Amino acid sequence: MFSIRIIGAGSIGNHLANAARSRGWQVTLTDIDPAALLRARESIYPGRYGSWDDAIVLKDSREAFGDPADVVFIGTPPDSHMTIALETLERVRPRALLIEKPLAGPGLDGCKKLHDVVLKSGVFAAVGYNHCLGKNTERAEMAIRSGILGNLQTISARTREHWKGIFGAHPWLSGPADSYLGFSARGGGATGEHSHAINIWQHFAHIAGAGRVSEVFATLDMVKQDGADYDQLALLTLKTEHGLVGDVIQDVVTQPAEKSARLQGSNGFVEWRVNHRPGHDAVLSGQGGDTIQEELIAKTRPDDFKAEIDHLACVLNGTVSQSPISLERGLDTMMVIAAAFKSHNLGRRVRIDWSAGYVPEAIL
Ligand SMILES: NC(=O)c1ccc[n+]([C@@H]2O[C@H](COP(=O)([O-])OP(=O)(O)OC[C@H]3O[C@@H](n4cnc5c(N)ncnc54)[C@H](O)[C@@H]3O)[C@@H](O)[C@H]2O)c1
Repeated sequence: MFSIRIIGAGSIGNHLANAARSRGWQVTLTDIDPAALLRARESIYPGRYGSWDDAIVLKDSREAFGDPADVVFIGTPPDSHMTIALETLERVRPRALLIEKPLAGPGLDGCKKLHDVVLKSGVFAAVGYNHCLGKNTERAEMAIRSGILGNLQTISARTREHWKGIFGAHPWLSGPADSYLGFSARGGGATGEHSHAINIWQHFAHIAGAGRVSEVFATLDMVKQDGADYDQLALLTLKTEHGLVGDVIQDVVTQPAEKSARLQGSNGFVEWRVNHRPGHDAVLSGQGGDTIQEELIAKTRPDDFKAEIDHLACVLNGTVSQSPISLERGLDTMMVIAAAFKSHNLGRRVRIDWSAGYVPEAIL
């Protein structure tokens, strides 16, 4: 049985606590805010999963910081991830460190340092882009590898979801300005909060052998309202080092939501969908534009996080060596996020020089 110490007892902290308990792990759920610990026990956890689980230990984050654990999970707002991650690696050195997405704000503060420290420590570090671990992703990868596409022509990815769902899961927030969500510079807004689309685009580009993103052009729709300052819509065109051109759209205004990624090849297509039908993800595929095969994959929201815990168990057991949620993949997504803001601000296409490392100067 493995142990996990969760830092941040908010929405994601409760999801990971439940997923780890479902696999019999020892769970310590911590927060700096006593009200958050109370809310987890009295409201979030029983509201989502039926009843509180007495096996979960609740603790103040600072008091628990030195406690050993196989896995430390950082489920706090993005602008706090780096400080907590670096202190964790310095003081506790767990076997695995899982940090929520996005890793940081678009200023990339701490990204290079974290990468350097992780490399030196030998700790397995990952970022919570859990869609990469979904069954629909596995099935889409199988379809891509079957050769159905022919030559890959383009990839389009979407995470378009009105954020009323997020605020519904956070009834204690009065609106965007009340948390990082309303501030792009802190990792909120459409580009940061919905960066699953950028990440899955990069994932499928990687699977298809198209390489890393080398050029980004972005238009962001910025909103300054009631003290908040965020992008509500992000339109990105991407080009990889091997010449693949595609696009990503992320927004916090679309309802009903659309979460998809489509790979179009010279012979056929593969489309990955999340919540395609109630309770189901899906993979659509076909050749020649005629028949479309639709594979439905039953899934609940807790399944997203159980897949993450199962993946971590495989890493700890040594049965997985390459991880689609590795720190490097999360940092690659941070570089595209940072490039999107730079492109929008400059009003032109920007280039990512990967040889310069995970620093703002790498975006030209
Ligand atoms: N992968 C996913 O599907 C997914 C889903 C939801 C949220 N997230 C990510 O998880 C992160 C947190 O989001 P959330 O919705 O759970 O936020 P939240 O506001 O519900 O919870 C964050 C908690 O962190 C606590 N906190 C803040 N600073 C802290 C510190 N220094 N030490 C200890 N606790 C601290 C806060 O008190 C709060 O309770 C974000 O990066 C978000 O993007 C990911």
